[in-house]
Amino acid sequence: MSATVRVNASGSYDVVIEKGIMSRAGECCKALFGTCKMVLVTDDKVAPLYLEKVKTSFTSAGYDTVEFIFKNGEESKNIDTLSQLLEFMAENRVTRSDTVVALGGGVTGDMAGFAAAVFLRGIRFVQMPTTLLAMVDSSVGGKTAVDLKAGKNLAGAFYQPDLVLCDYDALDTLEPETFAEGMAEVIKYGVIFDKKLFDLVKNGDVKKDIEKIITRCVELKRDVVEADEHDKGERQLLNFGHTIGHAVEKCSNFGISHGNAVAIGMVIAAKASHNLGWVSENCTDDIIEALKNNSLPVKSEFTAEELFDVTLNDKKRAGGTISLVIPEVMGNCVLKKVPVEQVLEFIKSGI
Ligand SMILES: NC(=O)c1ccc[n+]([C@@H]2O[C@H](COP(=O)([O-])OP(=O)(O)OC[C@H]3O[C@@H](n4cnc5c(N)ncnc54)[C@H](O)[C@@H]3O)[C@@H](O)[C@H]2O)c1
Ligand SMILES: [Zn+2]
Repeated sequence: MSATVRVNASGSYDVVIEKGIMSRAGECCKALFGTCKMVLVTDDKVAPLYLEKVKTSFTSAGYDTVEFIFKNGEESKNIDTLSQLLEFMAENRVTRSDTVVALGGGVTGDMAGFAAAVFLRGIRFVQMPTTLLAMVDSSVGGKTAVDLKAGKNLAGAFYQPDLVLCDYDALDTLEPETFAEGMAEVIKYGVIFDKKLFDLVKNGDVKKDIEKIITRCVELKRDVVEADEHDKGERQLLNFGHTIGHAVEKCSNFGISHGNAVAIGMVIAAKASHNLGWVSENCTDDIIEALKNNSLPVKSEFTAEELFDVTLNDKKRAGGTISLVIPEVMGNCVLKKVPVEQVLEFIKSGI
């Protein structure tokens, strides 16, 4: 089985979702561009699992390969690792006609993508996502970045890949918690755009439909990116559950993972939207059920004040408004601009 989604943004490219496609990476690239040097970027957890397979596929297709392996985890997504990767490319005489391949999760994709964007002012870039989150979210749309001490994703670029290859066989080796984190984003897509997708994943029995699920999420992300590549309007809809989710992450000192925090954020946002009378349907119970069935949390111990203080209090002082994403009905979210100070009341009515 195989599905291809074409993305037409500032660059056009295919996202191919196919079981086992990792071992065909070489021939897939060859169909698009000639032989060159492939800079394979991956982390030390993914390397022992998949690097050999991918490398063999490239070398059999006539490509030269060099490998850059870094320590897995968000802590590596920084300027230091980026700098090491750029120096590595320079030492290996990587040229304009060569290609960066990101083999791994969102950390690898974001950092390798940024390196591809800035090395020699931009060289070819292929994404081979190996986590569910990377398949349904981070590998599509061209946001690349590293973290700074002051916060996540503060240095980056919009840089579209030239090809995305999603081999969902890779999901079999994921920790169940990491798979569940990806499901938080899948459920998010369902609530924002597609009741059918939501219903498909609601009972948690998702592995049998995984190609269909990934393909639908990629299509939805494609539509948003094509409409608003640079995140000025519609793309903000993808932040459903994220404003409060980020607060949960911060309050827990990042002890609560992103996916889990977004799950909690979605529940608070849905409940608040209903309690404040902003929406016509109450989606909260459905969302809670879907999250529980997919091994995700639905609440945290933090108070509304704690959540507000940690991310929004400084913004309140600066005045201004914030766009909240609220579920009008299941499968259709809308943006609602509110003054920042009103977000405290919003969180209070959602807890
Ligand atoms: N660019 C975007 O649009 C976008 C969107 C959402 C998230 N992100 C970013 O994505 C990152 C999170 O992505 P993530 O959750 O994939 O993190 P990750 O890349 O750190 O992967 C999570 C863990 O799973 C391991 N792993 C990866 N694939 C595996 C496999 N097949 N089998 C076993 N283990 C595997 C990794 O080594 C890592 O330890 C964050 O940095 C976030 O900012 C970016
Ligand atoms: Zn997210």
